[in-house]
Amino acid sequence: MTTATARACANIALVKYWGKRAIAGNLPATGSLSLTLAALVTETRVEFDGALAADELVMDDAAADATRVTAFLDLVRARAGIATRARVTTRNEFPTASGLASSASGFAALALAATKAAGIALDPRELSRLARAGSGSAARSIFGGFVRMRTGDTDAEAYAEPIDSPLVDRVRMVIAIVGSGAPKTYASRDAMEHVAATSPLYPSWLVAVPRDLAAAEDALAMRATHAKAGDDAALRALGELAEANALAMHATAIAARPAIIYWQPATIALLAAVRTLRGNGRAAWATIDAGPHVKVLTTVDDADHVARALAGVEGVTATTISGPGEGARVIA
Ligand code: PMV
Repeated sequence: MTTATARACANIALVKYWGKRAIAGNLPATGSLSLTLAALVTETRVEFDGALAADELVMDDAAADATRVTAFLDLVRARAGIATRARVTTRNEFPTASGLASSASGFAALALAATKAAGIALDPRELSRLARAGSGSAARSIFGGFVRMRTGDTDAEAYAEPIDSPLVDRVRMVIAIVGSGAPKTYASRDAMEHVAATSPLYPSWLVAVPRDLAAAEDALAMRATHAKAGDDAALRALGELAEANALAMHATAIAARPAIIYWQPATIALLAAVRTLRGNGRAAWATIDAGPHVKVLTTVDDADHVARALAGVEGVTATTISGPGEGARVIA
């Protein structure tokens, strides 16, 4: 086979990946934990063609710079023992002009389509390691539902894996888009390096993450007190620590020198709206990535109410409700 098409969903981290122990291969400094989202999909077609002198990339119908794709395809070519260049066509089925990061779904779909088109079959773990080389968060988008990324002592051990949890049927994520969706000013890969090098809060972040991961895994497994108290207590525990973890990540960035501040006024207003929703008895916990948008963890029962409330916040241009998504798959 020389052509293949794959689909992958983006994921939102509940315990963030924010810092690398090695830049080559995107080896993470800590583990992370995410939810794959059905509403944010990338579809990617890869065609190896002996007539091409260089890789070509078409993204959302426009020719795009293929530098990162070529670096990634070189890894696939080395494994497959081929030198053939490829035509890569990729489309993001994301809320319009959302400015949401698509590198996770993008590199997960590319890893799957490119290996399939090159005639090599990788198991999901190997595929996850390969996707990580494209973008750290892409390792998690190989899988559906809740996913843990392992730090691993070696490169071979740094892969993601799915976590079974009864909460997967209960959760929804409301995505509130802030502003026009213009490209973010500071890409996460550069930002995490700058933060690790200059933020006085970064060492504390490295201490906090393993604790947050352990607590998140307890909540997902409904261990300890959650088992007796039921789904909602477990979801509350997960939501509370996800919000605290995201704010801690942003604290490291704000304390970097010079500071990296992703928040817009509407971001802060959304955090306040989420607190108000909680005060009114709704399930709502916020998380924020390398941009101004706010993603709110909620339940299937409260998702519509939460989305309506967030849509009314000044500066919010769109809201989307998403359920958990599937892992990456080949479709042609
Ligand atoms: O995969 P990258 O290099 O785009 O990093 C993603 C970083 C965050 O989105 C901020 C956190 C995460 O774990 O997804």
